[in-house]
Amino acid sequence: MIRIEAVTKRYPDGTVAVDRLSLEIPDRAITVLVGPSGCGKTTTLRMINRMVEPTEGSILLDGRDIRQQPVNTLRRSMGYVIQNAGLFQHRTILDNIATVPRLLGWTKQKARTRAAELMERVGLDTALAKRYPYQLSGGQQQRVGVARALAADPPVLLMDEPFSAVDPVVRKGLQDELLRIQDELGKTIVFVTHDIDEAIKLGTKVAVLRTGGRLAQFAPPAELLSAPADSFVEDFLGADRGIRRLSFFPSAELELQTAPIVAIDAGADQLASRATAPYLLVTDLDGRPLGWSEPDRLTAGAVDRDRLLDFGRPFVPGTDSLRTALDGAVLSPTGWAVAVDGEGRAVGVVSQQVIGEAIRAAHGRVAEQADVKAGR
Ligand SMILES: Nc1ncnc2c1ncn2[C@@H]1O[C@H](COP(=O)(O)OP(=O)(O)OP(=O)(O)O)[C@@H](O)[C@H]1O
Ligand SMILES: [Mg+2]
Repeated sequence: MIRIEAVTKRYPDGTVAVDRLSLEIPDRAITVLVGPSGCGKTTTLRMINRMVEPTEGSILLDGRDIRQQPVNTLRRSMGYVIQNAGLFQHRTILDNIATVPRLLGWTKQKARTRAAELMERVGLDTALAKRYPYQLSGGQQQRVGVARALAADPPVLLMDEPFSAVDPVVRKGLQDELLRIQDELGKTIVFVTHDIDEAIKLGTKVAVLRTGGRLAQFAPPAELLSAPADSFVEDFLGADRGIRRLSFFPSAELELQTAPIVAIDAGADQLASRATAPYLLVTDLDGRPLGWSEPDRLTAGAVDRDRLLDFGRPFVPGTDSLRTALDGAVLSPTGWAVAVDGEGRAVGVVSQQVIGEAIRAAHGRVAEQADVKAGR
């Protein structure tokens, strides 16, 4: 939908902010521009809605040069969200969100109804509608910014470091919300950040830019982590690249064992029949994990909850990744991870060793796919 073709931006003082950048931005997906401060991310984003004009090259929207349509029409098709939300301080939350529909000539009533709908969509309590921006937390203001950008239902959203001014917990919430909104509405989103973890979490594709506005790599996040194009990208990705890559491997195929799971009321014969397992996972009567124990330390009818070993953090097979499963295993002194269902009931256990084998198998599959793709 959006194609950036050999675009260069040289500011009047001679600064080259963007240097012959070409990017094909996929429809209905999140494309992230990431890179160090001053590498031309904001400039690139603003060229897409013509707040900045390129010096050379062109940008196409649905195959048409964006210079061929009136700038107002163009901007109406693109919501714009910035850091600190950029809200109108003298307008209520509802009227902030209704800004663009009002500009488009909607009646006050219709625009406000739409604004109230959007408050719910972005996870804001409609009780906040009559407040002013200063009466909201940073995270809430950021949600208003997203709702305002979505108000006229534009196909494209441009977002410039929208979540960087809030604390990590709120930020995670906003990121999850954005992924959910994207799932529901299928917008084409161009998202700028200098946080590589945010880029990897949100991006369908990630463009890593280096200082001077040159493209270093444009790839899906899993590919960035497995095959950084050069040492700049590798350094920018930072530590734990291998571990972080495990987030893209599903845990669904892990072979789970159920034999080592016993309920707290297990009888002597049940315990005896499992005595060969290195550890047993004890659950409560609903099947929720309580902790691990060596079999010979358990006495039927007298299990002491306080003496059980920590079971780490359980994972949900199919939903969580191999990274979460491995994390669960290394958190427990037993080296075993606990799999649970959506209600938190234990459905199986798996050892670090089996997770390790699954990781090697997943690497093997990725390498095979890369070979097929490269025609080897
Ligand atoms: N109006 C301007 N005039 C001259 N130079 C500019 C102008 N706007 C930006 N620049 C320069 O262009 C380069 C790219 O700026 P830009 O704002 O696009 O970077 P950025 O990647 O968004 O950085 P940050 O992560 O700090 O927001 C920088 O060197 C900046 O100083
Ligand atoms: Mg910027």
